[in-house]
Amino acid sequence: MKLKLLTLQIAVMLLVFPFLTSNGQPRELITLQKGWKFSKGNFEKAAQLKFDDSKWQDVILPHDWAIAEPTVVDGDGNTGKLPWKGEGWYRKSLEIPATYSGKNIILIFDGIMSKPEVYLNGQLAGKWDYGYNSFYLDVTKLVNFRGKNQLAIHADTRDHDSRWYPGAGIYRKIQMMVVDPVHVGVWGTQITTPIVKSNYAEVRIMNTVINNSGNTEDKIKVENIILNQKGTEIARKEVTARIVSGASKEVETSIGLTDPQRWDIASPVMYQLKTNIYKGDRLVDSSVNSFGVRTIRITPNNGLYLNDKRVQLKGVCLHHDQGLLGGAFYPRAMERQIEIMKSMGCNAIRTSHNMPAPELLELCDKMGILVFDEAFDKYDKKADITETTDFEEFAHRNIQNFVERDRNHPCIFIWSFGNEMADVQYNQNNGFHRMQTMINYIRKYDPTRPVTMASDNTNSATWRHFDYYDVHSWNYGRRYSLARQMEPNKAVIVSESGSTVSTRGFYELPLPEKRSEFTPSLQVSSYDLNVPAWADLPDEDFMWQQDEEYIAGEFVWTGFDYLGEPTPYGNDWAKSHGLTDKEASRSSYFGIVDLCGIPKDRYYLYKSYWKPEETTVHILPHWNWTGSKVDKVPVFVYTNGDCAELFLNGKSLGKKCKNPTSLKSIERFRLMWNDVTYQPGELKAVAYKEGVVIGEETLKTADEPYQIRLTPDRSTIHADGMDLSYVLVEAVDKNGNVCPLANNKIELSVSGKGHIAGVGNGNPQSFDSFQTNYVNLFYGKAMLIVGSGFEKGDISITATCNGLVKDLKLIKTE
Ligand code: GAL
Repeated sequence: MKLKLLTLQIAVMLLVFPFLTSNGQPRELITLQKGWKFSKGNFEKAAQLKFDDSKWQDVILPHDWAIAEPTVVDGDGNTGKLPWKGEGWYRKSLEIPATYSGKNIILIFDGIMSKPEVYLNGQLAGKWDYGYNSFYLDVTKLVNFRGKNQLAIHADTRDHDSRWYPGAGIYRKIQMMVVDPVHVGVWGTQITTPIVKSNYAEVRIMNTVINNSGNTEDKIKVENIILNQKGTEIARKEVTARIVSGASKEVETSIGLTDPQRWDIASPVMYQLKTNIYKGDRLVDSSVNSFGVRTIRITPNNGLYLNDKRVQLKGVCLHHDQGLLGGAFYPRAMERQIEIMKSMGCNAIRTSHNMPAPELLELCDKMGILVFDEAFDKYDKKADITETTDFEEFAHRNIQNFVERDRNHPCIFIWSFGNEMADVQYNQNNGFHRMQTMINYIRKYDPTRPVTMASDNTNSATWRHFDYYDVHSWNYGRRYSLARQMEPNKAVIVSESGSTVSTRGFYELPLPEKRSEFTPSLQVSSYDLNVPAWADLPDEDFMWQQDEEYIAGEFVWTGFDYLGEPTPYGNDWAKSHGLTDKEASRSSYFGIVDLCGIPKDRYYLYKSYWKPEETTVHILPHWNWTGSKVDKVPVFVYTNGDCAELFLNGKSLGKKCKNPTSLKSIERFRLMWNDVTYQPGELKAVAYKEGVVIGEETLKTADEPYQIRLTPDRSTIHADGMDLSYVLVEAVDKNGNVCPLANNKIELSVSGKGHIAGVGNGNPQSFDSFQTNYVNLFYGKAMLIVGSGFEKGDISITATCNGLVKDLKLIKTE
């Protein structure tokens, strides 16, 4: 009865307001999350309406077809030892009610790995190449408004090349936009603030209005309304335009804002712009875009100014994968990554080396993080550029989508058109021409931000590639020096710093004599003294920035460990050291936190320097050396204090202070007791700043593992099929001390309204599946990711292990 009434109401509404969609809005944006069928392989008729997909796997998006697969143990560690190469098909029947008739239907794809071909009702609707870019297709002409519609998408990674794990399939969301034929295009609103003063800002708006109505000429009214953080209207303006049928027009409006609040990293204030389009008096389209008011200046001698205040970039490079979830993009996983990085004092992210998911930028806007937005690694198959690609056309299309999609985000302070492209740096193979092509298109679609590329070979500076772009960005070891000397009128960013390697929880003694020599342990000691030949210690980067104040800041390689690139223990290392492909690792050692997001010791080193306002006192290594034949154990303390006193079982081992002028960088930033005679018990560090105690930390020798401890990061999650709770799994002794050497196998069970979305332990040498119901503790810890379904209720989590007391946790979905 109720349903009938509702249908009647909708029918009446559509009679009265035929321009509204079924939800009563002039524009509808529907995420196509559920109801997909998937199969790996190729099927000649998979695009056809009548194809039988009943035996295919049911999937919901996002989906990475390789992450659930078993590890290819003798596979290529550089791309994560997972079977991501291949072809796959996705099919979904599309609900397009008759009420949409007369509307335009546009599909928006955030990213499909790779070379997607999109079919609607058996017809090719369009295709794309670069797997990391977003694109959209107007499929109106192919839609059957009177019956079934079948969407089919082919993804093909066979020809994609990568230096890390790229994932496979529809790994980001797809939306269907239902709009009137007269509407603002996808990413069709550009908002800039050419004038920003303390009490005034000019907001310049350009709306690309499309007229697909079929009427020869339509008179359109464009109304722009600015809303503040509370959603209250604070300014509006309307303009009219004549747009001929089949054409689009850029309609410009300028609105003055009095007393604007700034978007800043400490207070990321956002405004919203609502754009209404009227045909006569009839509202036919309405869309909302967020923007911020801020100024950015990057200066040759004083780094970066945000709102006229100097900000040192304390940045991290992040690859696209989300560890145990693979390439599949979950907004909560990204939010958590940013939370963890921010808690360390990080204020910037470089999206190395590809376009991010759009939600990353929304989160950075919201959370006050600056973004170095990067498009490509190399101009080859890693960007899905093949020998037959028309570079000019490719660059235009890909840069247009990249910049148009992202340019309203105040968090983005710079565009990068690529990373370490040797041929471009040395002007080989028309390198400078290709560089110029990319830069021209970036500037065409956003004239307001600086443009850069990340370079790696110091000598390439003699080719003066930097004359083409705005900012020197160089990876590692003061490679910027020559460019800076040749062109001192450009700012400098260390686009990759660090590349220090370590394994969480693993300490190898004695300390390494040579920083780039790696032992057959296949793990890297967590004393933070090891780097590959080209790389730096965190302390060195800090020191160089202290000594050369003009440097705008750094982006550490990397914030998180990622799948692939397991330097130093890749396949080549294994084979040249008498091992086989099987022993090569599958995930990186570069991260400040491990693949699960569990901090390594380095996290505290960065925090101690990047976040001096918060107390950090961190002791390493663990204090469980009984039976290890080790007599002397070096002890390091990472603190924001300037000195610390170390006590072993109550006895002082002396007070040490940092040496801020030392030329040995580690003496400026770490406190080190290099030969503590091991005795089980209690190790305590008391930290001082200017003679005053600021905090202390105690490390106890743990007993045998006694029980499992589960700690979810969130106990209530959303029942939207996308939300996640990260549950830390640990073994603790009878007194609750984490057992730092525990490696027990823990059986996991998740029941109720949730499921296991991923498991892992941060061990680059683990070849276990990421989607199974057990996990081996690695140095005492592991991670279980619980995913929500679409139903509300309880999720119960149980962790058991022979010989250990089990643990149970209940979380809720709402
Ligand atoms: C850089 C490169 C990164 C990563 C890193 C490892 O040269 O740009 O993508 O490979 O080295 O240290």
